[in-house]
Amino acid sequence: MKKIALFAGDGIGPEIVAAARQVLDAVDRAARLGLECSEGLVGGAALDVCDDPLPAASLRLAMDADAIILGAVGGPRWDARPPAQRPEQGLLRLRKTLDLYANLRPARVFPQLLDASPLRPELVRGVDILVVRELTGDIYFGQPRGVERIDGQRRGYNTMLYDEGEIRRIAHVAFRAAQDRRGRLCSVDKANVLETTRLWREVVNEVAREYPDVQLSHMYVDNAAMQLIRAPAQFDVLLTGNMFGDILSDEASQLTGSIGMLPSASLGEGRGMYEPIHGSAPDIAGRDTANPLATILSIAMLLRHSLDAEPWARRVESAVQQVLDQGLRTADIAAPGTAVIGTAAMGAAVVEAFHQGN
Ligand code: NAD
Ligand code: IPM
Ligand code: MN
Repeated sequence: MKKIALFAGDGIGPEIVAAARQVLDAVDRAARLGLECSEGLVGGAALDVCDDPLPAASLRLAMDADAIILGAVGGPRWDARPPAQRPEQGLLRLRKTLDLYANLRPARVFPQLLDASPLRPELVRGVDILVVRELTGDIYFGQPRGVERIDGQRRGYNTMLYDEGEIRRIAHVAFRAAQDRRGRLCSVDKANVLETTRLWREVVNEVAREYPDVQLSHMYVDNAAMQLIRAPAQFDVLLTGNMFGDILSDEASQLTGSIGMLPSASLGEGRGMYEPIHGSAPDIAGRDTANPLATILSIAMLLRHSLDAEPWARRVESAVQQVLDQGLRTADIAAPGTAVIGTAAMGAAVVEAFHQGN
């Protein structure tokens, strides 16, 4: 028996997690995985009942689970709160406490969605990038941080910080991923300006000696942002720190047509957490219009990385391909003026395709 903790969170979180749950339940029955799913509160949903975005009971649930599914957290209702009481802190504390330092964000262009990208089809055809984003360090967690009053005015500060151990372990993840893919790794930094990322480049070069079969390159982050749009097919694995990876993965999502298509796995030495890369999308919450495919593809990553069920991961991914083949589209990936379906209907269509594929 494997335990799965589900945190739907805020905004569109409950809608996309409900759709993904249908898929997970279908896999569980077909593969006889014997999953035990429990739901917990995180983010604004938790703040509404207890003033803590990651209550002790939720942390216990997560630590007790073999894998975690998280929808999204945050929203304007909680934006005025002090930093420690923001929904996002619940997610950040989960990542940090569980030491989920390796965030894998695959940006794969489905051939059925070539026209959904704002970029020309010939630019995005065949693009398959894996962003390996460090997730528990960098300016997100560095101390000191804060806002203080100096000489009569307010001053805000954060600290970009990596120690070499943190860089080394994420570099190994990225090199191993490159070995399993097309053998190319591009490490992103700002080594021309920032000492932290000079160290990043040095350590990545040291780790590279253990992977002579991987072709390593380095790119400044500003150029990387540009190259992702100019010629995205040049990339295989992109290795980034926490903040650069956050930004570049949202950018990379547009190659695929929508941020609603990008899943992620956050991994450490133990249990993994699986979440779409997008947020709680308050602008479309509660309308059954959000794209659940990023979350459903995150279920495939959960099957692959936490349950050692690669064949079932592939079946979920091919079920997604089938619904796209059938021309089913949520609003974010539909051509203007064409028919769209809602979040729940998309989830049901994937379940149906999954059954047909068995
Ligand atoms: P967002 O990703 O929530 O939304 C950006 C845009 O993309 C919006 O127009 C939204 O409608 C659209 N979008 C996002 N997901 C979609 C989906 N599945 N289907 C269709 N369209 C989709 O980013 P934001 O607006 O900057 O942030 C909103 C809130 O979410 C903030 O509180 C932010 O902190 C939070 N956030 C949370 C996470 C997370 O929980 N992992 C990630 C990013 C942002
Ligand atoms: C993401 C989000 C989070 C991040 C926020 C909500 C803390 O943007 O998962 O990409 O910055 O990591
Ligand atoms: Mn983000």
